[in-house]
Amino acid sequence: MATIVGSITTSHVPAIGGAIARKRQQEPYWKPFFDGFHAARDWLAKARPDVAVVIYNDHGLNFFLDKMPTFAVGAAPEYRNADEGWGLPALPPHRGDVDLSWHLIEALIAEEFDLTTCQEMLVDHAFALPMELLWPGPSPCPVRTVPVCINTVQFPLPTPARCFKLGLAIGRAVESWDSDARVVIVGTGGLSHQLDGQRAGFINREFDQLFMEKLVGDPLWVTRYSIPDLVELTGTQGVELLMWLTARGALPGDVNKVHANYHVPISNTATGLMVLEAV
Ligand code: DHB
Ligand code: FE
Repeated sequence: MATIVGSITTSHVPAIGGAIARKRQQEPYWKPFFDGFHAARDWLAKARPDVAVVIYNDHGLNFFLDKMPTFAVGAAPEYRNADEGWGLPALPPHRGDVDLSWHLIEALIAEEFDLTTCQEMLVDHAFALPMELLWPGPSPCPVRTVPVCINTVQFPLPTPARCFKLGLAIGRAVESWDSDARVVIVGTGGLSHQLDGQRAGFINREFDQLFMEKLVGDPLWVTRYSIPDLVELTGTQGVELLMWLTARGALPGDVNKVHANYHVPISNTATGLMVLEAV
């Protein structure tokens, strides 16, 4: 059966793509953010995953307000990225793992998660940039991928409790996959940020740091909050931390915190990074 090696959860911000394209990683503004990823890549070199299940939120590239699934799973042989503006280069397509996709879809639907199944799927900065940070080019990304997309765009959003349960079900599904593959769970989004309205620029360091700490040993802590609570505490887009919670749910048993980094701000976002190893 497949093995879950651990999780990597990270923020995503389109400006990171610009910094990579313009080679700004060593500039004082960017260095504390990019430096956080050395330890994550060192851990990946030891953990040697073959496949990444990537839990992220689309921002209007693949799903728009006319059709907005709460949960969607990719089942495509490859996932293309697209230009999101400012002339950022589109990153090369990512290889899918159709076998794991269909296994996940069957297992999750059997567990009463009514998914949207996507045999074609474009992936935006929330998928492509964390992958580029974890497995930088120019050589092709060495892991196959299965995207899992959670709606954080159009209300109503799934509750934290529901997302955690989805994570638990993803973990069980991966561990029942008849394969000798090593699987890493990647979750991208958050931490606190608000891009628009009167509170634009809102960041809550105290909550973010408590959330990161609780996620390790007491992830159910965050399920006490409703979506409106999370909007108030973390900003309208801070609810993307649901991706971290879902990823944490997928880890079997106890975990060991390998690495964490927190840096404020990158663009309008409080950026977090955490590597948890399944023990
Ligand atoms: C920013 C952050 C996001 O999560 C996102 O999806 C887009 C932009 C930002 O801080 O600029
Ligand atoms: Fe986002």
